[in-house]
Amino acid sequence: MKVLRVGICGWGNVATGMFKAIVDNKFFIEQSGVSIDIACIGARRDNPKCNPGEIKIYRDIFDIPNQDIDVVVELIGGVETARELILKSIKAGKHVVTANKAVIFHHGDEIFNAANDHGVKVLFEAAVCAGTPIVKMLKEELAPNRIKKISGMLNGTSNFILSNMEEGNEFDDTLKLAQDEGYAEPDPAFDIDGLDAAHKIGLLASIAYGTTLPPEEFYIEGITKIDKKDFLYADMLGYTIKHLAVSKLNKANIEIRVHPVLISKTSYLANLKGVRNGIEIDTDLIGTIHIAGSGAGQESTASGLISDVIHLANSNIEIIDTKKKNNSLPIKDFSSFSFQYYFYIEVQDTPGVMASITSLLAHQNIGIESIVQKDNLEENLVPIILVTNSFKETKVKDIKESILNLESVNKLRTIRIEEI
Ligand SMILES: NC(=O)c1ccc[n+]([C@@H]2O[C@H](COP(=O)([O-])OP(=O)(O)OC[C@H]3O[C@@H](n4cnc5c(N)ncnc54)[C@H](OP(=O)(O)O)[C@@H]3O)[C@@H](O)[C@H]2O)c1
Repeated sequence: MKVLRVGICGWGNVATGMFKAIVDNKFFIEQSGVSIDIACIGARRDNPKCNPGEIKIYRDIFDIPNQDIDVVVELIGGVETARELILKSIKAGKHVVTANKAVIFHHGDEIFNAANDHGVKVLFEAAVCAGTPIVKMLKEELAPNRIKKISGMLNGTSNFILSNMEEGNEFDDTLKLAQDEGYAEPDPAFDIDGLDAAHKIGLLASIAYGTTLPPEEFYIEGITKIDKKDFLYADMLGYTIKHLAVSKLNKANIEIRVHPVLISKTSYLANLKGVRNGIEIDTDLIGTIHIAGSGAGQESTASGLISDVIHLANSNIEIIDTKKKNNSLPIKDFSSFSFQYYFYIEVQDTPGVMASITSLLAHQNIGIESIVQKDNLEENLVPIILVTNSFKETKVKDIKESILNLESVNKLRTIRIEEI
């Protein structure tokens, strides 16, 4: 049995979850031929929810890399101190396992280069979808494949909120429910503004396509502009609404983008509801595969972290995360994208309003695939729902402005439609 000595830095939710899983699932972990010995913990204070017994505690996390251990498990979160701690661990000849997507997103290339220089590995399975396996799968099991497209719901909070809005609940009530249930942070901006999903798709794109970490700038939009009524109209048109993170290989560039989309109700991703994360990967050799599971929480994250520690002990594969960097394609400029669009236009019920809107669209060469005009709302307002043909992102701002400038138009919302 190989014994790996680990030092855990941070003693919060995930760290204590990892400790408990190593103790509770010792038998199963050892079936892999590896025994994990938690040699020390770096924690600036005790955690009343977890007693680590006889394990030595260091109050300064920067003491951990100097101990007689094989692996430093970084679980402090944040970016700059975590970067410093990881680089110190690498220089001390320790492997690093982390659940921290932010530090890998912002400093991944620097960290992996340092690891290569010092002959150690930095693994981050738990940073994307917690324990739901995707990182090592992309690096190893799917390595023989050309990865054509990765698309998925990578933020459990956003998927939970949208799934509840689909049931007819308001955004604010659902966000509060997510906070009460512990799915959303007291400050939910990181989740609902799309940054968390952006970090994760940035990491997956770097594995699949060798894009840099940090990546070049790409388009990020969250879920705050969606109204529960959009679900009703999307449903009538055969769609639902999801917050999708996408990375795709094109001939001359790589797409990375994060935004809400209408997707076909019959698609696999449309049917993944609640806090679950779900990913669809299109490959050339095995076609389309789907992965779904818990994307957060103590136990799921512990699974991802422990799988990395076991991997370190069992694998001789040289994981060089920078290997494809030299021939990576540029990231596609978002203004050169074309999408079909859903338009929700709330208008005064006056003669000629529909004709004014369609003529504005025609003037910009934007075709209409379908129009739904629904019953009156209050105060003589009528919703008009349009699905357009595909058109360039560069036209979106102008067309929205010109529709909103029409005197009879009260409100306008737009959502892109994703081809699955
Ligand atoms: N929670 C999840 O479901 C989940 C899922 C996947 C990935 N992750 C990632 O896992 C990491 C840890 O998350 P968490 O939920 O465990 O956070 P947490 O409960 O807030 O725990 C963070 C721990 O790190 C300590 N810490 C923070 N900054 C420190 C510093 N500068 N020096 C010393 N100690 C420091 C904190 O100490 P104090 O208590 O003294 O502040 C606390 O013990 C994050 O990178 C997160 O993104 C979390």
